[in-house]
Amino acid sequence: MREDVQDAVNRVDQHRLWQRLTEMAQIGAIPGSGVNRAAFSDEDVESRKLLISWARARNFTVAIDAIGNLFIRRAGSDPHAAPVMTGSHMDTQPRGGRFDGIYGVLAGLEVLEAIDAAGAITRHPIELVAWSNEEGGRFAPCTMGSAVYTQAKPLSEFLAVKDNEGIALEDALARTLAATPEAEKRELNAPAAAYIETHIEQGPLLEQEGKTIGVVTGIQGLRWFNVEVFGESAHAGTTRVGARKDALRDAIAAINALHELTRDATDTVRFTIGRMLVTPNSPNSIASHVLFSVDVRHPDPATIARLGDAVEPTVRKAVKHCSVKVTVTLHDDPCVFDSAVVEGVERAAQALKLPHQRMPSGASHDAMYMARVCPTGMIFVPCERGISHNEAENATPEDLAAGARVLTAALLELANREPRG
Ligand code: GLV
Ligand code: MN
Ligand code: MN
Repeated sequence: MREDVQDAVNRVDQHRLWQRLTEMAQIGAIPGSGVNRAAFSDEDVESRKLLISWARARNFTVAIDAIGNLFIRRAGSDPHAAPVMTGSHMDTQPRGGRFDGIYGVLAGLEVLEAIDAAGAITRHPIELVAWSNEEGGRFAPCTMGSAVYTQAKPLSEFLAVKDNEGIALEDALARTLAATPEAEKRELNAPAAAYIETHIEQGPLLEQEGKTIGVVTGIQGLRWFNVEVFGESAHAGTTRVGARKDALRDAIAAINALHELTRDATDTVRFTIGRMLVTPNSPNSIASHVLFSVDVRHPDPATIARLGDAVEPTVRKAVKHCSVKVTVTLHDDPCVFDSAVVEGVERAAQALKLPHQRMPSGASHDAMYMARVCPTGMIFVPCERGISHNEAENATPEDLAAGARVLTAALLELANREPRG
């Protein structure tokens, strides 16, 4: 490893990274060491302000775009070079943990500080991004900030999305933007030279294999739907079962049919109904309306296409007494990361003598959209028992720092690459 790269790697501060993770975990803290920091909530704003204060203390520039993606930049020597980017997200699941997302953001900040402290001059700027609304737990779908940044979706498509309280994303986003005047406004869709995201694995493989670093090769395909069943509310004691338009009964029939559709002897398909809203949601009223989400995933393009395309017909066939509406909320085909970035991450892990292995990602990440616009890769570190989207999510300070060291070396290599041609 080059001496200047080693110098920057040596300046990654495990203690500072852990302290910052601990401080961030106080914002939206819930019992059981968990975090509830929904996108565009007061807690989200507070975490953004804390991140900005750390960035400004080091004189990095801070900018924000129209969907609230937050950018922290250390300048490069070539004023025409697009930034080499790293980052992740600061929002969490409603009962999330202390590491999903925020680790990638704070590892990125740690790397910027380490590179700065080493006085490294890079050709490309290095830019940390905190993507808006990665989780989609409050405003569906997930990975919204990166979808808009990469022009995969227009911002206008999301403005009317409402949370469970009926608050529109447009209003929550406007409040968030107004609350961070210290960040200068910047255009959407600025070019990126490359992107590497660091994340806890959210699965058990690294821990089981005794490896510190996952060199991520790609992300499995993902299809999301909202299914709405429209029935008629009536009295539970007086209405004959044969005469009902029971939206909940039909929704359950549809869910059972979807379980049959996605049954898989190899246990590779991932199928989840994680959200259900029942109206009027009273024990003695027949349900007039049910909304439930569908999340189905598979790494093989043909399989996820077949399963995703079968969701609506399967639901329609199962719903016998009510009317039904199926809305696609997300369609992400499997993605394969850039081989040069994958090799760069692998080289960095090797040079740092960290046990590592190649692996695909089961969870979705903003890296999926970034892979459409620039060479992209990811670095995973182990998390305890693979548990995530759960208050009990846990990882060790040593592994988290190791991921940041690999990120330092891999980013520096990319940031010093000469222009092609
Ligand atoms: C992101 O958290 C996902 O749903 O994979
Ligand atoms: Mn995440
Ligand atoms: Mn997550």
